Amino acid sequence: MKVTIIGTGYVGLVTGACLAEVGNEVFCLDLDQHKVDLLNHGVIPIHEAGLEELVARNRASGRLIFSSDIAASVEHGDIQFIAVGTPPDKDGAADLQYVFAAARHIGKYMDGYKVVVDKSTVPVGTAHRVREVILEQLAARGSTIDFAVVSNPEFLKEGAAIEDFMRPDRIVIGCDETFGGQRARSMMKQLYLPFNRNRERTFWMDVRSAEFTKYAANAMLATRISFMNELANLADKVGVDIEAVRHGIGSDPRIGYSFLYAGCGYGGSCFPKDVQALRHTGAQYDHKMQILQAVAEVNERQKHVLGRKIIQRFGDDLGRRHFAIWGLAFKPNTDDMRYAPSRALLRQLLKRGASVAVYDPVATKEARRVLQEDFAEMPHLLEQIRFCDSALQALQDADALAIVTEWKAFRSPDLNQIKNLLKEPVIFDGRNLFEPWAMANAGIEYHGIGRTAIKHT
Ligand code: UDX
Repeated sequence: MKVTIIGTGYVGLVTGACLAEVGNEVFCLDLDQHKVDLLNHGVIPIHEAGLEELVARNRASGRLIFSSDIAASVEHGDIQFIAVGTPPDKDGAADLQYVFAAARHIGKYMDGYKVVVDKSTVPVGTAHRVREVILEQLAARGSTIDFAVVSNPEFLKEGAAIEDFMRPDRIVIGCDETFGGQRARSMMKQLYLPFNRNRERTFWMDVRSAEFTKYAANAMLATRISFMNELANLADKVGVDIEAVRHGIGSDPRIGYSFLYAGCGYGGSCFPKDVQALRHTGAQYDHKMQILQAVAEVNERQKHVLGRKIIQRFGDDLGRRHFAIWGLAFKPNTDDMRYAPSRALLRQLLKRGASVAVYDPVATKEARRVLQEDFAEMPHLLEQIRFCDSALQALQDADALAIVTEWKAFRSPDLNQIKNLLKEPVIFDGRNLFEPWAMANAGIEYHGIGRTAIKHT
């Protein structure tokens, strides 16, 4: 099929490359000519496992092209995916200006039936507004061309996005009579056929419910994490091991094991933004989303939990202290620093005078960029950060090690080396990578999140 993807950000690029991989002719549009040039030279602007090879293979086959030519992009695809960013505006609502700009372009140039697919995460009612925008453009040129608007939210995890696209748990498609009906449904069905091979994974629903499903999924996951973090903080006070509790409750199939890991808070492009946006939708309908307010507040607090533990241990004046930090990205296998808990920790430590040596396997460049912004008002504090080329290098003469991101490479370190390199053998583990008893046996003072239980027999 002929498909256009509008926006070559994270979602657009993965969607375009994966749809080309299964044989579609995909035209990726981006208005940023520099980005298009880079993509046409095989340079992928984001770090995502397997994406570079996938893009290269499909570019070489001619099934995947990148361009900034709007008219050509509208002409190309019978299916037009809108996959542009929906960043939060100052009230926390999703800013839809790029979505509507894409809809305007489609309405302006379309010359035959199109299925317009909202792939971006957008609040309930957006498909309706996209339809209005396209109708306005058509009316302006006296056209009555038929088209459909469909909602097809993405559920891609950074670091596993290609796998998530190629072998999805579910494909949610909102397609109803108001916005297009049967013709659009059969085109979407054909497009997703290769991903439904062994069993049907598509959940068909009305457009508004599909739009809502994306927010509901992320809000539910964020809620589980904040709930576990709240339990873990109490566990620390009452002497309970949150990991034992996780096993104890996760075995109940009604609860399940995943997304029950306590830690130093969630970050990334989705959870913080989507929780805010859903709260905003609630407010618009005079419906206070109390649980989500708590989820966001608990998470904000949780991003400071490691810093608080460090302050408790070393005192509020960290003037002569030096810390090693492992991990900067909001999670492993990505260089994404958006809402990363490491940023909160750095603020806490640097403001109190500490110096830090940081190491992340891939996020250093991105971290340098965002930290310039974070510390724009206090640029001198940036001098207290040293970026290291290895995990071990960061440890040299540090008073303690703080682990913020659970990169695989941090999971089985040489404990003797840690002890030898640190001034004092102290670890603050924001991702509960180690067993407290193993650390105690190795002579390391260990501070996890919710792991202060007395050793059991
Ligand atoms: C998320 C959703 O999982 C995905 O379906 C959606 O499309 C986009 O948002 P992503 O932001 O890539 O994906 O990251 P995810 O793996 O979900 O992790 C989000 C954050 O939660 C990370 O900071 C992670 O460290 C944290 N987390 C996750 C926990 O603190 N505990 C857990 O148990 C799981």
